[in-house]
Amino acid sequence: MKVPAPLAMLAELTHRCPLSCPYCSNPVELAARSGELTTEEWISTFKQAADLGVLQLHLSGGEPATRRDLTELVKGARDAGLYTNLITSGIGLTEKRMHELDAAGLDHIQLSLQGTDAEMADRIGGYRGGYERKMQVAGWIKDIGFPLTLNAVLHRQNLHQLSRALEMAVEMGARRIEVAIVQFYGWAMLNRNVLMPTREQAKEAERIVSQAREDLKGTLVIDFVPADYHSDYPKRCMGGWGTTGLNIAPDGQVLPCHAAQTIKHLKFENVRDKPLADIWYQSDAFNTYRGTDFLPEPCQSCDRKKIDFGGCRCQALAVAGDASATDPVCVKSPFNDKMRALAEDFSADEAAEITYRTAAG
Ligand code: SF4
Ligand code: FES
Repeated sequence: MKVPAPLAMLAELTHRCPLSCPYCSNPVELAARSGELTTEEWISTFKQAADLGVLQLHLSGGEPATRRDLTELVKGARDAGLYTNLITSGIGLTEKRMHELDAAGLDHIQLSLQGTDAEMADRIGGYRGGYERKMQVAGWIKDIGFPLTLNAVLHRQNLHQLSRALEMAVEMGARRIEVAIVQFYGWAMLNRNVLMPTREQAKEAERIVSQAREDLKGTLVIDFVPADYHSDYPKRCMGGWGTTGLNIAPDGQVLPCHAAQTIKHLKFENVRDKPLADIWYQSDAFNTYRGTDFLPEPCQSCDRKKIDFGGCRCQALAVAGDASATDPVCVKSPFNDKMRALAEDFSADEAAEITYRTAAG
């Protein structure tokens, strides 16, 4: 296949974070502060990304506000011609800092929501006072006029708050909300018994979202990531491996997706050692699962393979034990019964307790 240029890059500036959400998509083995790319290394990476064709840069973490040089990084990215989106919990942002980010040219903010009240949000985030702080930050975002997307991560513990989350997005002046039912990678894998929604919750969420899309047409755009353990077909993960986007880990490793390091036989290259363009076009990590040639049956003869690329490689590995297998979410996968049984078992575990994400060193 002819390899397209990537459109989006997610820069995990750091794994450090004041929160400890049990569904954090960071790897279970977190990168240490001492190994993080420097300001200059990040800015060089942003320039290389722009040259490669990237248009949108998502500045993420951990909590990106933990980096003292965040404003400098935003400025460097804007100077490189990238559209900049800050993905944040809000903790660590002050009003002064937000004005500085505005002056540096930050284009957009994506604010995460752990719950719609302090009790839920602080319990899930593992950070007392976090909700109150976030609401303050939401007020500054509105006052300064940053375009805002609210990112509500939902699971068995807080799915009953979905309708309120939609109301809050409107109240905050958000243009868009991402209603994401938790995906099971990273720390969420360790917490499947706490977080797995029930089938009824998954269905109810779909109903609420489709009603809200009608009711809020013209006011709020709603992106929806459904509960994939309860879906019939998998999602097109990362827009297709190595076709649309790439992630940079805090230490400069270049990853095809945020969970790629769980695929132990892949070797990931580092921006400290090689030009980003070489890594995107030539590295084994990107080429191994690019396109559809590697897919087995039933994907090979399925007319959806160009739509979903056989689903998520990391999920195939986690549940089927083989990263090149059909994503077990798919009803045609030989592991689909196992997937459904896991969903039923985990969602029925009433006694489960949260394993919080630990702090990065
Ligand atoms: Fe997608 Fe493969 Fe399932 Fe077809 S068989 S829907 S290509 S995952
Ligand atoms: Fe890695 Fe889906 S998270 S391919």
